[in-house]
Amino acid sequence: MLRTKVAMSLNVRGARLGMLLALVTALAACGGGGDGVASTPMPTSGPPAASVGPLRDAATGAGKWVGAAVQSGYIASEPDYVATLSRHFSYLTAEYEMKWDPIQREQGVFDFSGGDAIVAFAEANGMRVKGHALVWHGATPPWVGTLSPPELRDAMANHIRTVASHYRGHVAAWDVVNEAIATDGSGLRDTVFSRGLGPDYIAAAFRTAREADPGALLFYNEYDAEGKGLKSDRVYELVQGLKQGGVPIDGVGMQMHVDATSYPQPADIAANMQRLAALGLLVNISEMDVRIRTAPGSTAQRLDLQKHVFHDIVAVCAAEARCHAVTFWGFSDKHSWIDAFFGADNPLLFDEGYRAKPAFFGVEDAFLGR
Ligand code: G3I
Repeated sequence: MLRTKVAMSLNVRGARLGMLLALVTALAACGGGGDGVASTPMPTSGPPAASVGPLRDAATGAGKWVGAAVQSGYIASEPDYVATLSRHFSYLTAEYEMKWDPIQREQGVFDFSGGDAIVAFAEANGMRVKGHALVWHGATPPWVGTLSPPELRDAMANHIRTVASHYRGHVAAWDVVNEAIATDGSGLRDTVFSRGLGPDYIAAAFRTAREADPGALLFYNEYDAEGKGLKSDRVYELVQGLKQGGVPIDGVGMQMHVDATSYPQPADIAANMQRLAALGLLVNISEMDVRIRTAPGSTAQRLDLQKHVFHDIVAVCAAEARCHAVTFWGFSDKHSWIDAFFGADNPLLFDEGYRAKPAFFGVEDAFLGR
């Protein structure tokens, strides 16, 4: 019954959001409120981060972990970054420093300094850590591509074993395999791992991670597979097969890098979360940000649209018992991968001055059930 109610309200909300976007578009068309596309910075008149929330309390009230992707360099150099992070978040993901590339850039030489700094900060502030990502084609050093299949099998097992056992007891979860499905959802992505080891590399990675750290939750993590669609179905089939094969997987991460003008419908995300939960899996939103650069309307209208998108998507997780965490891919517009990849934008909860944006209150409301 709860789920049908949720589905119904999500459809209503989806429709309302559609109407909001149409309204803003109409307004922009008639030049009603348009300030044009603002480039970064976009200082808001929001309250300082130190004077709102804490967001982590609202999340705890909803039974959820709320996280952010971080880099140790910013923790070491920016007091406002540290103050906002420790006040509002209970779950940290290493944005880069726990990936294969920085940790084992040279075969057999391990550098844990960045990841260790993040773990130390988290433990000093009562936060959990998610390791990211043990096996990902996007941050794998060149030497891995020079290996023969047997050498690659050993190197992958050795990397997972060495890294997961180093952080054993210090991380609550790992993204074990990241982005293994082809962008078009046609099947497995063609990577150094699928080419060298075939599709079984995924099961092997999860088994090795479980052996190395039996206490960590193990996730498969993907993008553009949050709602309905071919890629979402491929992810479902992949993890269903792993579960049926007795492979130790605990859940799925939905990255949720979305644009305010085209995002997966909350009702579709809810349905996807429910079918994964029915497999006995946990789900989490693992890398959320909401781009508004191309959204029409004034700055205030675009920030309001962003607030609604954050609210409605986080509310799906808040309502789903098997969704245990929401992580944002950064938290201040001062530091986001989006600027370099998609063009200057303001995709996160706090502005460059660490003032709370409308988006922050959208997320807080979602956790508070408002
Ligand atoms: O730390 C070095 C620094 O010492 C050096 O001066 C600088 C210039 O070369 O590079 C810095 O490393 C960069 C690192 O980010 C930290 O900023 C790497 O070159 C750069 O490749 C790395 O990009 C990360 C990217 O993944 C690749 O690992 C992004 O920050 C990170 O946001 C992005 O995150 C991915 C997720 O892991 C998976 N899903 C998509 C998401 C966005 O692409």
